[in-house]
Amino acid sequence: TKANIGVVGLAVMGSNLARNLASREGNTVAVYNRSYERTELLITEHPEAGFIAAADIDAFVASLAKPRTAIIMVQAGKGTDAVISQLTERFEPGDIIVDGGNALFTDTIRREKEVSAKGINFVGAGISGGEEGALKGPSIMPGGSAEAYKTLGPILASIAAIAEGEPCVTHVGTDGAGHFVKMIHNGIEYADMQLIAEAYDILRHAGGYSPAEIAEIFEEWNKGDLESFLIEITAEVLKQVDAKTGKPLVDVILDQAGSKGTGVWTVQTALNLGTPVSGIAEAVFARSLSSQASQRAAVDGLPADATKWSVSDKAAFVEDVRRALYASKLVAYSQGFDAIRAGAKEYNWNINLGAVSKIWRGGCIIRAQFLNRIADAYDKNANLESLIFDPFFKQAVATSVSSWRQVVANASLAGIPVPAFASSLSYYDGLRSPRLSAALVQGQRDFFGAHTYKRVDMEGTFHTLWSGDRSEVEQAPSTH
Ligand code: 6PG
Repeated sequence: TKANIGVVGLAVMGSNLARNLASREGNTVAVYNRSYERTELLITEHPEAGFIAAADIDAFVASLAKPRTAIIMVQAGKGTDAVISQLTERFEPGDIIVDGGNALFTDTIRREKEVSAKGINFVGAGISGGEEGALKGPSIMPGGSAEAYKTLGPILASIAAIAEGEPCVTHVGTDGAGHFVKMIHNGIEYADMQLIAEAYDILRHAGGYSPAEIAEIFEEWNKGDLESFLIEITAEVLKQVDAKTGKPLVDVILDQAGSKGTGVWTVQTALNLGTPVSGIAEAVFARSLSSQASQRAAVDGLPADATKWSVSDKAAFVEDVRRALYASKLVAYSQGFDAIRAGAKEYNWNINLGAVSKIWRGGCIIRAQFLNRIADAYDKNANLESLIFDPFFKQAVATSVSSWRQVVANASLAGIPVPAFASSLSYYDGLRSPRLSAALVQGQRDFFGAHTYKRVDMEGTFHTLWSGDRSEVEQAPSTH
């Protein structure tokens, strides 16, 4: 028998995905890894999977039924290019190569162009959910051609997480669309994590709660609007006691946050697209600041001049923090979806935002009930200008905004850093403002660089003769 699907790259994610595939009715899975030991380990540990183990790339390709379909699960970057060229040398027109790694979407666009020139389908698929998700059901964000999705869709649907009866997979769009959406998923993941961490910091340092008590608060929050995988695991982390010292584990973990690049990509991409993902950016920069080890070590008594946040009504305080977190989170998601829309426009993808929010309800790191509300919002109005304008979210913000201001203001006074809370609130106020200080920036630009400005009361482009008599001249409309 031949395999209907193959997996190349058998590190944890690849092995787990291969096992997931093999466990589903109708799949026979071929597996290949550069060094055979890993393949051998997998097939000995999991005889139940009935893998077809290939010792080399030729045997792997020969073991696949046509159209040959192979999922690459190797470290993003050069490794991926090497495997792609090995496969394209052996595959035939109509065959399908899937890159399931965290590839940069522009690499995926390039690879799709190169591979499809040979008649072979190339699908960049974002896969979220970590090791456990890969094994039990991830959220999958495939790009690529509609033709490839005909063969691939059912296979991916068979292994994806199920949310409310629906598999967490959808054909996101052509070429790099899937990896683009996965990138934004990760950006939102960064913001969500940072916001939760800021809420924790406030509860700890202004509220005086212990990590174990905060775990209980988060467990409580997990029953309401904030219900999500990230809140759930945060409670687990906070409950953990270090076996070596008996202290809460969170107190012995070095406070320098690492990253592998997708958050940075989100922000870089958003900067290029001109779409403000300020919450995500603050989350990325907060990790950067935390990791400036030598700078932080050199700090010697920088003045705080902070005032103590006196909490009289603890229940009200906790509720304020919860609301501030919810509203900030809404901003992060709203900014993330705006970035997807901006990307879709730039790269000519037809992305259904409601469908994206639905496949994030299960399997992925940001999975949450809350995504149903986002799906509802886009179902009602596919052209919604901002999620915040949807009646449900508008109401949610209306309920939270006063708490949000209290929390940001008090945290500032108390000297507790809340970059993501604060920037999300500022973004909201910016969005809300009928008139922004940008008018003055335009004036400044015109002063030093004759960059011109538009007027609120008439058509045209204007410049003030700042170094002359300061009269205003109208710029002739450009002729090209
Ligand atoms: C997922 C995650 C995953 C990501 C990790 C680590 O969706 O399963 O997003 O793809 O690699 O979360 O990311 P950082 O190391 O950058 O925090």
